[in-house]
Formats: sequence, C-alpha cells, structure tokens
Amino acid sequence: MDNGYFVTPVLTHSATRFVGAATFSALASEPARTKLFDDSRGNTSALTPIVHTRLGQEADLVLVAPATAHLLARYATGMADDLLTTTLLATRSPVIVCPAMHSEMWDHPAVQENLSILASRGVIVVPPAEGRLAGGDVGMGRLADIEAILERVEDVVGSGAASTRRELSGVRVLVSAGGTREPIDPVRFISNRSSGKQGHALAEEAYLRGAEVTLVTASRLGATEGVKVVPVETASEMEEAMMKEAPMADVVIMAAAVADFRVKTPRGEKIKRSDGTPEILLEPTPDILAKLVKCRRSGQVLVGFAAETSDVIERGHEKLVRKGVDILVVNDVSTPGAGFDHDTNAVSILGPGGVVHEVALATKRRVAGVILDRIALELNKRSKTMEKEASS
Ligand code: PMT
Repeated sequence: MDNGYFVTPVLTHSATRFVGAATFSALASEPARTKLFDDSRGNTSALTPIVHTRLGQEADLVLVAPATAHLLARYATGMADDLLTTTLLATRSPVIVCPAMHSEMWDHPAVQENLSILASRGVIVVPPAEGRLAGGDVGMGRLADIEAILERVEDVVGSGAASTRRELSGVRVLVSAGGTREPIDPVRFISNRSSGKQGHALAEEAYLRGAEVTLVTASRLGATEGVKVVPVETASEMEEAMMKEAPMADVVIMAAAVADFRVKTPRGEKIKRSDGTPEILLEPTPDILAKLVKCRRSGQVLVGFAAETSDVIERGHEKLVRKGVDILVVNDVSTPGAGFDHDTNAVSILGPGGVVHEVALATKRRVAGVILDRIALELNKRSKTMEKEASS
C-alpha cells in the first residue's frame, strides 16, 4: 500500500488464526478475502460469485508471503481447495512465493522438490533468511526481509513494467540464454559459469512489456508462463533453434554464453579412469551471432553480449564492430557481484558511436529493463526512418 499498489489480501484458514481478516481489511485497498464460497453471512466474496477466478485474472502480481510448506505442496500439485490456491491457478501474471518454515522442514527434500517444480513453471522464489523462528528456534527458514520481498515485487511490477509499460506490444523478441554444454562422453561436458539469469530476466521483462517472446535457453531456470521456451543443450542445438526462430523476430538478443570450443569426437561410452588420461581434441563451435548478422532481415535489431575482464569498453567496441551488431552489452565480469551466476550485474551498453548507457550494479531484472529501453528507442528510430522513406 505504501508503495502505491492496489492490494487485495487473501487469507487461508490458518492465516486467520494469526491475524484476523478485519486487521487486513483495515490496512489494505479492499476487504480481505477468506473463502472460496460465499456463505451469505457477511463474507465479502458475496461481491461476485466467481471471485476465485477474478482475483487471479485481474492481479498484476500474486505474492504469497509467507508461503508455508503446506501451501507450496498444494500449489505444486495443482490443488484448488481454497481461495488462495484457486487464485494461484487462475492467474497468468507473475507469482512470487516467500517460503517461511522451520529449518528441518525447509531442508526436507519434499519441500525442495516442490519449490523446484514451481520454479520450473516460472514461479519466482524469494528464499528465506536465517534467524529466529517460531518456538525459540534459530536457523534457516525465517521469512525473507520485507525489503528483499519488496525489491522483488518492484522488479516485477515496479515502475509500472507489468501493467502500464507496454511499449514492446506487438514486437517479436528472440533471446538466447545460459551456457551451452558440449559433451565429452555421455556423463561429462565442457561448459561455463553462465546461469541463464540475465537472459531469462530479459525474456521476462520483454514479455511484461508486451512483446511476443521466444527464449532459446541452455539453462534449467524456469520462465514466466507466456514466454515460448525452446530448451537446448549444445552450441549446435542453439544454432539450429536460433536460425529457425530468427526470421520471425524483430529483435534478437544473444545473451547466451556459447561455448567457444567443443569436443571434436565425443565418446559414445563413458571414458574409464582405468584407461589412463584421455587426450581430448577440440574444435571451434559455430559463431551463432555472426550467422544471425549475415542472415538478418531488414529492420531487425541485433544485440550481442560480451563478457570481459580488462579494457572492457575497447574490447566491447571492437566486438560490436567485428560482429556487426546494433547494440553490444558488455559486462565487466571482474566486478564483484557482476556477470556469471550473480543475481546482479553491471554493464555498459554500446552503440556504433560508443557508450550509450552505463548501468551500475543492479538486479539483472533492472539491467534487462535498461537494455530493453535502449532497444525500444532503436525500434522507434527505425520506424520513424521507414515512415519518412515511405512518405518521400
Ligand atoms: O547467464 P548469467 O549467469 O546471468 O550471466 C550472464 C552473462 C555474463 C553470461 C551474459 O551477460 C553474457 O555476457 N553473455 C555473453 C558471454 C559471451 O559468451 O561473450 P563472448 O564475448 O564470448 O561472445 C560474444 C557474443 O557472441 C555473445 O553475444 C555470444 O552469445 C555470441 N557467441 C559467442 C560464441 C559463439 N560460438 N556464438 C555466439 O553467438
């Protein structure tokens, strides 16, 4: 409420045993909802008989804080036995869950498996913190700090990204993400430290801004429902998927860390230690970005990434020119907290004339937002030029 959001509290039966619905009703934008069915004795769900779908359909975001082990299990299995779980199943908007429970429950494989299922469906998880728990226990499982939860909320709907900034409406965006895995034998591979977080953040942010998004990813991270996901493993699978999807895209963003080398002849069977140290011959992988530039269709915006550790701007600019992209996003991966696997990043966005924007350390979602702002400007410029050409 303090941040200007319209808040509708939905309480489970257990929640009402801690804080009553009247308290939430007094603090929120709407009366608290507690029941799936109207009991006609003053319950506010009498406002509409289909409240269980309406709440989910209308929300820009559903935030479950705290999310108990029981709620996570019900949500993961698709149960719809109260107003909260039906709201969760009825929404197509982003969902954030903030687990809170005792350490032993948090560590239990059942809870962790349920969270993995939810994450693979695109549910955003704000992990718990360490500290005092109910009953005097201390350990992992305490609800995350309110600031951390609100920061994630801001990432998703803040600055109006989800509801009002639809500037990419009708734009088809193709994003690659993650580090490819090049097999050595059936159990081993060559890869890199890319988690896919930056690429997935770009896909999610573009989707929230109205774009039609395809995400070709070598990462196991989930994606928001609505984003078309093409899972790949190797550089050649990524090449095939990108070349297939690119002709339909208005914007192509290569955020993936494609392995530069692969094993020339991967073994069909596991290499045995007892056979001695193997010699592995490598060969270069295809340069996907170079191929995309070659085949680009008129008006398409191409964005490359670069991960550098020194002379970042010079190397980034050299790469922009050599690869022939419109925008190059360069990470200084030696900056603490930036680059591979972190939740945060710090980048310089380069255009043909040099640096157009510096983004100091921020969440990958915010970095994605700034990159998409730049892409939107580029698209605008192009459509104005095309209009001028058409009228002259
Ligand atoms: O995934 P995260 O953990 O969130 O980390 C994000 C990131 C640091 C991996 C990402 O932001 C990033 O910088 N990705 C590109 C890393 C990289 O491979 O840089 P490069 O300088 O090797 O490649 C330059 C460009 O060519 C990239 O756009 C890359 O996708 C592309 N490339 C590279 C090799 C290849 N065979 N084909 C390609 O298309």
